[in-house]
Formats: sequence, structure tokens, C-alpha cells
Amino acid sequence: MQTVTGEYRRIRVTPYGPALGGEVRGVDLARGLDPETCAEVRRALLDRQVLFFKSQREIPPETQVAIGRMFGPLHMHPAAPQMSGHPEIFEIHVHRDSRVANGEFWHSDVSCDAEPPMGTILQLHVLPTSGGDTIFVNMYAAYDALPAELKTRLSDLTARHASEHVYRERYSDRGVDDADKAYPAADHPVVRTHPETGRKALYVNRTFTTRIHGLPDSESQALLGLLFDHSEQPRFQIRFRWELNDVAFWDNRCTMHHAIWDYWPEERKGRRVTIRGGRPR
Ligand code: SIN
Repeated sequence: MQTVTGEYRRIRVTPYGPALGGEVRGVDLARGLDPETCAEVRRALLDRQVLFFKSQREIPPETQVAIGRMFGPLHMHPAAPQMSGHPEIFEIHVHRDSRVANGEFWHSDVSCDAEPPMGTILQLHVLPTSGGDTIFVNMYAAYDALPAELKTRLSDLTARHASEHVYRERYSDRGVDDADKAYPAADHPVVRTHPETGRKALYVNRTFTTRIHGLPDSESQALLGLLFDHSEQPRFQIRFRWELNDVAFWDNRCTMHHAIWDYWPEERKGRRVTIRGGRPR
């Protein structure tokens, strides 16, 4: 099951970088998506892993929710505050008084969930004068580049993805009281098979993955360290420089990303919807 690139009738897609990414033009997302364009976007996403929609206007929240739903039911974030009137929307907002910046370390979104999100659609409406780029990594390429013996060793391994250490009190400065909350943790294969392309991707990340099962602690830490360092290499990356109202749509099943917080005390703000995914296999 491989992705067929093919021609597009409704959108224009150009590669963003050799490793991954596609720049998309010819669609005005503020007007919503028709089914044919949606099918082309899905195909482009499978082909390029992350898409950047350029020359956009601000998308009304209800339209962004409707666009997300065209790709599947929406995921509710286990920790982040919900946008008033739009519980499916996660507002990204970093400013001079922020204690943490969302997405600041390498991760695949909410990989601590038993069924982590398949994709995320983020539009930014407030940008710093410079900085605030997001780096994406192609986790198919990271897997493909591993030595054959290591691929064999990883093939039966599962790892713990936890979130207590990430989310506890993380959003207290935005009014979230999580005293009575339990944060998710789940076990996932270290190498997952993408349910739509059939390709194998490395599925561990520095934010959520805490342990590889069946190995002594020191061996688990050493192997995770090796896999993190390997997958974060520049040769598997692209670095996206945002312009106002750009929209990024990434596939969490075969990418990781890292939002760089290098713009303090300036502000960066936007809205994200996240699409539910299945259990990684
Ligand atoms: C995220 O991980 O959802 C944030 C990405 C970004 O702000 O660029």
C-alpha cells in the first residue's frame, strides 16, 4: 500500500524540502473545503507528511472545526484549556508571561493517548517579528535510515508514552486546575505501520516516551537516547518559517515536530484542531 502522488486538479503542491513538506496554494481555507479538494489534501498529506497552506485569511473557528471534521472526528486535548464556545479548539498562545511554550520539545501530538491524534491543523494569527519557526521530522525516513540489525531488534519492542511529567500544572497560568485529573499513558510499538500508506515509521519522541518495555532500565534509556538523537538529525528535517495566517496540517503518525521558543518576550498565537487517530500498530 504506497501513496500515489498523481495530479491535483483543485490544489497546487510543491515540495517544501527534500525530506518532507508540501507548500499548498490554490485553496482559500476560510471558505471551507469541498469534498474533492479535501480528498486531494488528504492525498497530498499522505505524500508529503506535512502541508503548509499559504496566502490564507483568518479561518473562523467554526470553519476550522468543520474542516477538521472532514478528516475524521476531532480529538479533545487531555490538558489544554478549550476555546470558549469551541471546545474542539486548542488555542496556542505564548507571550512575555508564559511559563512554557506549547510544543517546545520534540513530540508527536499527544502520543501518550491510547489512540493518539492522526493529524493536526494549526493556523497562526499573531507572529513574533522573527523566530517562532516549527521544525518537522520525517519519521519514515528516520526509520528507513536505521541499520538492518537495529530494525530487526526494534520490530517487537513497545514503549511507554506518559504525560504526567508533561501536563501536570502546565496550563495553571491559563486557569486550568488539574488537581483531580489523571493524565494519560499508553504503550505503543516503537515502530508503527502507517494505516493508510503501509509504510513503517519510528514512533518514539523525547517529550512523551519514557521507557522501552522488556529491557533493563539503563538499556532502555540508552536505546531511547540513540533513537531520539537519530530521528532528530537535520537530514530528516524541514524548518517552517511562518507568515501571518499560514496553516500547517501535519500527520502525527509519521512525523514529529518542535516549535522553537526563541522570540520571548514577543507573542505568538493561533488555533489548532486535532483529528482523532486509531491505536498505533
Ligand atoms: C504544537 O505542537 O501543537 C505547536 C506547534 C507550533 O506551535 O508550531
